Amino acid sequence: MVRTDDNDLSDFSPAPNQGENAALYELENEAFDPESLVLAAMRARAPWRGRTLVDLGCGSGYWLTRYVDEAGEVVGVEPDERLLPLATARDARAKVLRGSAEHIPLPDESADVVHARFAYFFPPGCDAGLAEVMRVLRPGGTLIVIDNDLEHGDFATLLRSSAWAAAQGGGSPTDTWWAERGADRTTVHSEWRFKQREDFEAVLRMEFPAEIANQWLETHPERLGLSYSYALFAITKAGA
Ligand SMILES: C[S@@+](CC[C@H](N)C(=O)[O-])C[C@H]1O[C@@H](n2cnc3c(N)ncnc32)[C@H](O)[C@@H]1O
Repeated sequence: MVRTDDNDLSDFSPAPNQGENAALYELENEAFDPESLVLAAMRARAPWRGRTLVDLGCGSGYWLTRYVDEAGEVVGVEPDERLLPLATARDARAKVLRGSAEHIPLPDESADVVHARFAYFFPPGCDAGLAEVMRVLRPGGTLIVIDNDLEHGDFATLLRSSAWAAAQGGGSPTDTWWAERGADRTTVHSEWRFKQREDFEAVLRMEFPAEIANQWLETHPERLGLSYSYALFAITKAGA
C-alpha cells in the first residue's frame, strides 16, 4: 500500500454498508449481476484490455480481481483505513493506494479508465471529484460511475419506499447533474442472486430499514434475490 502525504481526505464519507460490515458486503458483491451484464456494458463503453484502470473507492477490493487478467495495470484507490488492508490483500497484481475522489494519488494523465462503483459520485456536490478524475485521465480516457436506476426492478421499488435509502441519490436530479456535465447514461437490467436465503435476508436488512426489508421478505418468502437495474454514467475526456 502506498500512502499519500495528504492525510486529510476531507471528502471521505464512510460507507455504512461496506465500512461497517465488509463480510456482508462481500456477499452482496457475490450476488451482484450474476450474468455480468454490468461488466459487459462497462467494457463496451470503455474497454480496458491492456490499459490502466483505476477503481476509485474500491472498498475491500472485490472488483479488482475482475480486472487484473485483462487490464495492463489495475489501481485501487480507497480512503477507509478499515478496508485498505482487505483491498491490498485481494490480488498482488493490483496496486492499492490510500486516497479519495478529490485526492487521487496519481499523476496527471496516467489512467485510461476510472470506475466508481457506488462510491463518492452521489450528485450534487461531486464537481471537485469529477475535476480530479479528469486530471488523472488521459485524453480519450473514460470515467464510468455505477449507480442505482430508480425506475425499474424490485430494488428500485424498495429504494423508493425508503427515504433513508433513497438519500443515496439517483433519479432525475442525478440524471440531470450528469447530463449537464456531458455524461451519457446506460441502463442495465440485472439482478441480485444469492445462494442462500439467509444471506439474502441479511444483506437486504443491511441496505434497508428493518421494517421495509422485513415486509418485502415476508411477501416474497421463496426468493433468493431480486431484480435490480443499474444506471451507468460515463464521460470521456476530450482531446485524444
Ligand atoms: C458502497 S462502498 C463500495 C465499494 C466498492 N466500490 C464495491 O463496489 O465493492 C463505497 C466505497 O466508497 C468509499 N468512499 C467513501 N468516500 C469516498 C471518497 N470521497 N472517494 C472515494 N471513495 C470513497 C468508501 O470508503 C467505500 O469503500
